Amino acid sequence: MNVVVFASRKGGSGKSALTAQLGSYMAPNARPTLLIDADPQGSLALWHRVRGSQDLPLHIGTKHLAATLTKARRAGAEWVLIDTPPNAEAPVAEAIWHADLVVIPMRPGLFDVDAVQATIQMCRELKKPYAVVINAAPARNRSEDPMVVDARGAMQALDVPTWAGQITNRPELSLSLAHGAGVNEAHSGSAGSEEIGSLWRALTRSFDAMKAMAGTQAQSA
Ligand SMILES: Nc1ncnc2c1ncn2[C@@H]1O[C@H](COP(=O)(O)OP(=O)(O)OP(=O)(O)O)[C@@H](O)[C@H]1O
Ligand SMILES: [Mg+2]
Repeated sequence: MNVVVFASRKGGSGKSALTAQLGSYMAPNARPTLLIDADPQGSLALWHRVRGSQDLPLHIGTKHLAATLTKARRAGAEWVLIDTPPNAEAPVAEAIWHADLVVIPMRPGLFDVDAVQATIQMCRELKKPYAVVINAAPARNRSEDPMVVDARGAMQALDVPTWAGQITNRPELSLSLAHGAGVNEAHSGSAGSEEIGSLWRALTRSFDAMKAMAGTQAQSA
């Protein structure tokens, strides 16, 4: 079971949006997925209510996280996506502690680049694999927007693993969420849907690589 935690101390960076978009992307592909809304704001839970469908189970709250994950594993969940609040408090640390991978969405911008560092620090202290995902970025023209180039440069200087792709700021991403859907469902084949698909493939590749590395280490132990 792959546990992915979406975390960033910065509000509005796209934690809930990416959790819902990836959850919706996984749903039709028959990957048993559990969503966990660990944010008292309840954005993911709201999206789930609007969705009104049972195809993606949702657990709300941070209490008994270990027990919830054990139950999900026994029930055959392959993926668990956990949305967290915009702070660096104990429930976020607990979610990160349970993570196999932490996704840190980051808008390109000075304040955003600065604010994610607290979350990066938490991942490092807890020795958890993490990656920054540049979200709500200006569209690529022939090359990346200067804002994105700057943001990547800042992450590189801090030695922070950063996804090579980007999720562009697109109205259809927000619009799909307003209807309880993902962009792959509401605007299938759109550029936004392609980007979410590409993020999904990057996630699966990371998990494959982590499992291969764990296998090699087990063999040489
Ligand atoms: N790539 C995108 N394109 C268009 N809109 C986006 C994109 N990413 C996020 N948004 C919108 O930006 C707003 C903030 O995103 P979201 O709620 O996911 O952030 P968050 O990190 O969960 O915020 P909080 O820390 O407050 O929980 C939402 O209205 C969301 O729909
Ligand atoms: Mg949120």
